[in-house]
Amino acid sequence: MTKAIRFYETGGPEVLRLEDVEVGEPGPGQARVRHSYIAVNFIDIYFRTGRYPLALPNGLGSDAVGVVEAIGPDVTDIRVGDRVGYLIGPQGAYSQVRVMPADVLIPLPDGISDRTAATLMMKGMTAQYLFRQVYPLQGGETILYHAAAGGVGLIACQWARAMGVTMIGTVSTDEKAAIAKANGCAHTIVTSRENIAQRVRELTDGKGVPVVYDSVGKDTLQASLDCLQPRGSLVSNGTSSGSVVVDSQVLAAKGSIWLTRPAMIHYIQPRSHMLDMARELFDHVLAGRIVNEPQQSFALADAAEAHRALEGRRTTGATVLVP
Ligand SMILES: NC(=O)c1ccc[n+]([C@@H]2O[C@H](COP(=O)([O-])OP(=O)(O)OC[C@H]3O[C@@H](n4cnc5c(N)ncnc54)[C@H](OP(=O)(O)O)[C@@H]3O)[C@@H](O)[C@H]2O)c1
Repeated sequence: MTKAIRFYETGGPEVLRLEDVEVGEPGPGQARVRHSYIAVNFIDIYFRTGRYPLALPNGLGSDAVGVVEAIGPDVTDIRVGDRVGYLIGPQGAYSQVRVMPADVLIPLPDGISDRTAATLMMKGMTAQYLFRQVYPLQGGETILYHAAAGGVGLIACQWARAMGVTMIGTVSTDEKAAIAKANGCAHTIVTSRENIAQRVRELTDGKGVPVVYDSVGKDTLQASLDCLQPRGSLVSNGTSSGSVVVDSQVLAAKGSIWLTRPAMIHYIQPRSHMLDMARELFDHVLAGRIVNEPQQSFALADAAEAHRALEGRRTTGATVLVP
């Protein structure tokens, strides 16, 4: 028996229940992983509330690190005792131990602790695919990035600095602005008291930016469109404040804007590519260009509290559960 969070209906954080569950032996192509840290991501909230549908009852979470305890037949590149992390695969990371498809496991380098790795898997790989694949940055650009002090955001700040990209980051408070700046965000816009589009025009001599990475969605869509240069790109990579609907005529009127709604799963396959992405991320960490630790830590049993904090915009950087 092991402990795991499960939910039987969609709803508020209170639907999350800590239960005893059976964990079997790994079958062909599978490995059993004992978690050391579980990462909490905003996507977990979308699943919990039903915005992203799941068959219920179900486990929750897709991002954790730990050690391989057992492997099934036909597993060749993962061994018992390996330290691993993952960010895709079936829901159920909010657990002490689980069986996973071995082909989603990413071996962790010696120089990166489990605690740091738990902030990197989903969040660091998201920064990688946004900046290096979805709208590949060259260095030298000025970009707008929403929720710059968030889990993905703090890594994005550091990645932008490492690439010589000038990031303008939005945040809701002065405290979050200070944290984003300390992580490499060149300019911050405090959304509770500043007009996003006006500030971006001021900071870019009226030109606007070539790309906006917008994970906030509903509340920032209009401002994002107003900040872009003609033929600029709006990367709508999340909907923390609610979904967006865009009339294509508006894209024309705003300057023939490119709009994409990227999903990680389409940028992370095949496995060899996922491992290349992880290697690039880990190289930044090992070289000290990206330094990241969890900013909030909760017991697995307190997953609901972690969700309240994340939804309530009370977190900065990464949030982890300790099993
Ligand atoms: N497309 C993908 O493949 C992919 C992958 C990973 C993550 N994401 C998305 O990236 C975003 C960041 O994820 P994360 O886990 O790192 O979360 P996060 O950024 O740590 O938390 C969300 C942040 O969004 C801001 N926010 C603005 N309006 C909000 C609202 N109405 N409710 C809650 N938060 C609001 C808050 O920052 P302020 O208080 O500073 O405004 C909050 O701290 C999420 O939208 C997530 O879905 C997408």
